[in-house]
Parts: sequence; C-alpha cells; structure tokens
Amino acid sequence: MIITFCKTRCFALALLIAPAASFAMAQVALPYRDEQPVRAKNGMVVSAHHLASDAGLQILKDGGNAVDAAVATGFALAVVHPVAGNLGGGGFLLLRTQDGRSTFIDFREQAPLAASANMYLDANGNVLPEENLQSSITGYRAIATPGSVAGLAYAEKKYGRLGLARVIAPAIQLAEAGFVLTAQETHELQDTNLARFADSRRIFQRGGQYYQAGEVFKQPELARTLRRISANPDDFYHGKLAQELVADLKKGGGLVTLDDLAHYEVKERAPVVGHFHNYTVISAPPPSSGGVVLVSALNILEPYDLAKLGDRSPEWIHLVTEAYRRAYMDRSEYLGDPDFNSMPIAELTNTGYAAAWRSSIADKATPSADLHRPEGFLPPPPRTAGKSAESQDTTHYSVVDREGNAVSVTTTLNNGFGSAVTAGSLGFLLNDEMDDFAAKIGTPNMYGLIQGPADAIAPRKRPLSAMTPTIVLEGDKLRYVLGSPGGSRIITTVANIFLSAAEGGLNIQQAVDAPRFHHQYLPDKLSLEPGFDPETITALKARGYDLDIRNGHWSDGECIAVDPHTGELLGGQDHRSHYGKAAGY
Ligand code: GLY
Repeated sequence: MIITFCKTRCFALALLIAPAASFAMAQVALPYRDEQPVRAKNGMVVSAHHLASDAGLQILKDGGNAVDAAVATGFALAVVHPVAGNLGGGGFLLLRTQDGRSTFIDFREQAPLAASANMYLDANGNVLPEENLQSSITGYRAIATPGSVAGLAYAEKKYGRLGLARVIAPAIQLAEAGFVLTAQETHELQDTNLARFADSRRIFQRGGQYYQAGEVFKQPELARTLRRISANPDDFYHGKLAQELVADLKKGGGLVTLDDLAHYEVKERAPVVGHFHNYTVISAPPPSSGGVVLVSALNILEPYDLAKLGDRSPEWIHLVTEAYRRAYMDRSEYLGDPDFNSMPIAELTNTGYAAAWRSSIADKATPSADLHRPEGFLPPPPRTAGKSAESQDTTHYSVVDREGNAVSVTTTLNNGFGSAVTAGSLGFLLNDEMDDFAAKIGTPNMYGLIQGPADAIAPRKRPLSAMTPTIVLEGDKLRYVLGSPGGSRIITTVANIFLSAAEGGLNIQQAVDAPRFHHQYLPDKLSLEPGFDPETITALKARGYDLDIRNGHWSDGECIAVDPHTGELLGGQDHRSHYGKAAGY
C-alpha cells in the first residue's frame, strides 16, 4: 500500500518511502563523518530551500529577530517549496527568547464543523479509497481549516519586530518575479495527483507542458494573495479572501465554510519540557505527540552511558530502539487534541514511570506483542484503538538571531502537495490534514500506526501530529534547535540527531547526515537507512530485530547547534535534501 501510494505522489515521497532494499544496499557507507556545519556569529536560518533560508537571513541582517526571520522563511517556503511549504496547511512554532521564556504556537488545522467520525467510511465500514476523491487523502473532502496564515501572522504580531508587511515582502517578490527550478523540483511538480485538479495542473504543471530544469516559475495569483495577506491577514479568515476561498472549495465539495474560517483560533500552549543529563529539552505538546514521545524515550535512556557505547553501535541502537518502542506504545493509546481529551501527560513523562519501562529492557529485542505497560502509573487508556495516517510531506526550519532568540518551526500540508487541490484564483494548495485523524477505529494506517480514540474525527478538532519542533538547552544556555519532516519518523529523527550530537560526539552536520534508525512499536520492525555497516546489521539480527532496510530516506533534519565554547552558530542542513541551505552571517 505504501508503494502504490508513493507511485501516485511526488519524487520526494518516492525517496522518503522507497521499498525495502536488498541487504547489500544497506552496506553503502555515507561519508557523513567528514561533514562540517556552516558557521556564523550573528544569526542562522536553516531550511529545506535555499531561497527561503536567504529570505530569512536577509531579515536578520535588516535587524529582524528570530521570529521575523522565521515568518519570512515560512511565507517564502509557501512560494518556493509548494510540496510542503504552505498557506493552506498548518504547523507549530516553538520559540525560546534570549531571556529564557519559551512558548509554543499551535496553528494546526481544525476539522470543519461538518466533519464526523465515520465520514471516510463506506456503508460497509471500509475506508473509502483515495482514487474516488472522497477520501481523507486527496481531493476537497480531505481539507481541514488551514491555520498557517493565522499562525504566522499571530507570531509576527506578538513576537516579531519588523511587522508583517516587511517579512512577507521576500515571498511576494519570489512569487512575482519567479525563481529558477532545479531538476528535482521540476520532477516533484510532475506529481500525478496535481494533474487531477484543473487549477493545480494549470499553475504547477503549465497545463501539461511541464516545467523544465532552469526555467523560471512565476506564481502571479499567489503573489496577489500574499499582498492581500500582507495588507490584512484577517481577510483570510473573515473577509473577502475567506469568501473567495470558500467559494473555490465549495465547487469541488469541500467542507470548510466561512463559519469554520471565522472560528479558527491560534492556540498558544506551554511546551513539553524534559531533562536528559545536563540538557533541558523543550518540545511540542499535544496536539503533537512529538514532545511527549521524545521526552519519554529520553527518560528511559537517562542512566545509560551511550557516549561510552559509541554512536550507532549495536548496543546503542538496541537501547534507543527499545526506548522508542515503549514510548510509541503509549503514544498510540493516549494522545490526541488536548482541547478534546484529558491526557496523562505528566504521568507519561514521569521519570519513575520511565524507570519502570526501563526495567523491562533485556539484551534482546522485546517483541512488541509481548510488551506490557508497567502498572500503577497511568489511568487505563481509552478502550478502542484507532487509525491515523500521519504522512511524510512536511517541512522544518530553524532560526537563531544575534540576541540568542531561537525559533523552531515545523509546518505541513500533510502529504506532498497536500490534498492536491489549489484554490484557483488564490494560487495556493490546500492540506489533506483530515488524514491525520483516526479514520477507522482499529485499523492501522499505511505506515502501520495505530492510535486511540483520542484522535477520532470530531468537528473543530485538531488531528494528532508527530511534528517535533524542539529546542535544547545545556545548563541554561541555548544548545540545539532541532526538527524534521517525516510523518511518524519525525520523532525518532529528532531523537537520533539529538543523541548523536549530545552523546555520540558528532557535530550537528554529521548528526543530521548520519543514517537513521526508527521503531514505532507497530509494525514491529526496526527501519534502517543505508549506511549501517554489515557487522552492525548482523549484530542487530542476532538480537532478534526484524530489520526493514530502506534504500531511500524518510526525513530531512534542518537544525542549528550553538558552540558551547565560542557561542558560534553551527548550521546542519540535511544533505539528503538537494536544495536546502544553512544561511548564516
Ligand atoms: N502531517 C504530519 C504530522 O502532522 O505529523
């Protein structure tokens, strides 16, 4: 199912979820150990697109703070990275100011009022297939009320310095004047789902005369929309822009109404905070599962001397995998939208509970089927298990300014190009975030994720996410700004990068580029990227792991570290991505 889905999607997804490779593929070593980060003294922006990083960097140079630069980068990504950057999606922005305060801005999409628990099931209770355009994956019914414009405007107004008009300007320029496409970008734009919707085909595929590498891609409708947002962002939710958007969506049977847009709310929430050795980990609270799973896994790993074991040694991989397995088991049963669920977050991230989990780790892999949650720590989970489909086309960017303010943003349309629907006259793609809900109780999604009824569909609810924007302090000093796309693999990507940098002796560039491993409780498989040596693979097999060795990658870390000795900013831009950039000055 993964592969079929992948074929109908973009090149980026093909790389992300390529079929399992032969054993030999996994032995190709990546030269990550020679990599060095980009160094800068005053400010750094790292994103998946060089033009978006440059836009943010220019804002920093012009006296903007990290929020100004992040908002500029976010709007620029909506122009130059349409596969995941967006106006029609949602996301999370984590901010830590130089005076030590931190906050989490939740601009996750919301289900429309007309949404209901079984809306993606047929009369027999089966999940509607993607092909018929009634599903949660492609087409108008997949679209949830977008939050990105509200979230970025909110962040700019409350925490920025330069004002929205200034920070949106680079995006308007990029949309109006256009930008030169690379071969990879033109390949992505040939997405077969985009071709199913007239406006998407017209705008992104020139009506079938596909863009070629080296051509300039201009987006006049998007430029006009950005100008209108720049003049009055509220227009997107309460004004003429909202009316035009809803009229466009209605034509295709979309559920989002003017009332849904008018009731959309950005939520500012307290981040999840955990401690690991001398580090304080500040991360994403629900409706993301990211921070809870990250902190729970680190709690389990706390007493192990990973540094002594050696980065990615078999014992390192074994212990970290067993921590992931246990934390993901809890994720699958307890987490959802905090505005709709009461969740035992303090209990899940409690160190005593982690110690009890740890005591069940043996020398060999624990089969997930044999895993028993330690008793006496948590209330019973809601009884039925559900399904959700966190997909893998999302994007992350990290920013630090000269004052030491840090911003970590992950934003998503969900799948590549989201629902593949473009609001024609407005020129932007809409999300398919409805697919991050549990569409059918008791059925694992295409990535094998099982989730509880806490993530069932309900009107105005936010779907559970795995996005994990994270900021790490060492003592009380800023040390890392981390994040990645990658669906269910986002959390382990962030954990892999953090552990390799903090414990494994890798610099941030090496940590970002090093081959990843992932376990999510179910399916009971240990996924490996290429680059692990044959001895490691043999040792993991001997410990009882069912290995899922990939010949492609599944995430894209865009991260910053701070040199603890010199205070220099160190940019780690994922070299798996061909057009990203760590831009510093
Ligand atoms: N849509 C991906 C996520 O929110 O995790």
